[in-house]
Amino acid sequence: MYKIIDGKAHSRGLREEIAAEVARFKQSAGRDIGLAVVLIGDDGASKVYVRNKIKGCEEVGIRSYAYYLPADVSQRQAEDVVAELARDPAVNGILVQLPLPPGLDAQKILSLIPVEKDVDGFCESNMGSLCMSRPCLAACTPNGVMKMLEREGINVSGKRAVVVGRSNIVGKPMAMLLLNADATVTVCHSKTTGLKDICLSADILVAAIGRAKFITADMVKEGAIVIDVGMDRDENGRLCGDVDFENVKDKCSYITPVPGGVGPMTITMLLYNTLAAAKRSAEIV
Ligand code: GUN
Repeated sequence: MYKIIDGKAHSRGLREEIAAEVARFKQSAGRDIGLAVVLIGDDGASKVYVRNKIKGCEEVGIRSYAYYLPADVSQRQAEDVVAELARDPAVNGILVQLPLPPGLDAQKILSLIPVEKDVDGFCESNMGSLCMSRPCLAACTPNGVMKMLEREGINVSGKRAVVVGRSNIVGKPMAMLLLNADATVTVCHSKTTGLKDICLSADILVAAIGRAKFITADMVKEGAIVIDVGMDRDENGRLCGDVDFENVKDKCSYITPVPGGVGPMTITMLLYNTLAAAKRSAEIV
């Protein structure tokens, strides 16, 4: 019998803990915690994400600063906004919603976010620290997966983990977090040969491919823990994940659904990272 990992419930529980800690921080430091969210252009999905990020801030008592820039903003103007936020002591975290409209150099804009305010964990310094098992701000989605596993009481040490997908935002940091937690990790991608057999070796299988129902029942070992990071649309236009949930679930010990699995944890981990950044800045100053 499989257990569904309820990301909404974990997210709720964790947000309560974060809210309590934010209140404690404000009391002892005598100041607010601030997150700046920068949205450039009018991508529909990005607007929804940004709205939910701002709502999440309100829920836990973090002050949010929203910057909406038009799609035709110049590279220079976008850089100036981020550079100003980098200097602002009221801002503990900066998030530039991706993807950026064509014509803008995202890497250059992101590089202006100081490491200690990089609450997305995307910068080279945070990624480097993650690789070297040093304290850092880790990317929200994979960090949320680790948090969910921890809250389920799943110890990953010694387990065989297979991560399908090697993006900088999910696959790579996911592999590093699992490795740092003493799992034996394999990373697969579109050029991997023998993918099915590698997936069949997984005690923990993380699907971060971006293709609807890509992971089928014949790729999953009996008793595996299956984590679905996908946000796709099926043939009927319904939201689904990278895992063929209906056919895979009976083989699993644990499985995350889509929606209601990894998704809700991502924004919660952004709030978690913003709190961590504020705490760290209070130690420094
Ligand atoms: N676009 C899709 N996911 C993310 C994310 O986690 N952070 C940012 N900044 N943009 C995104």
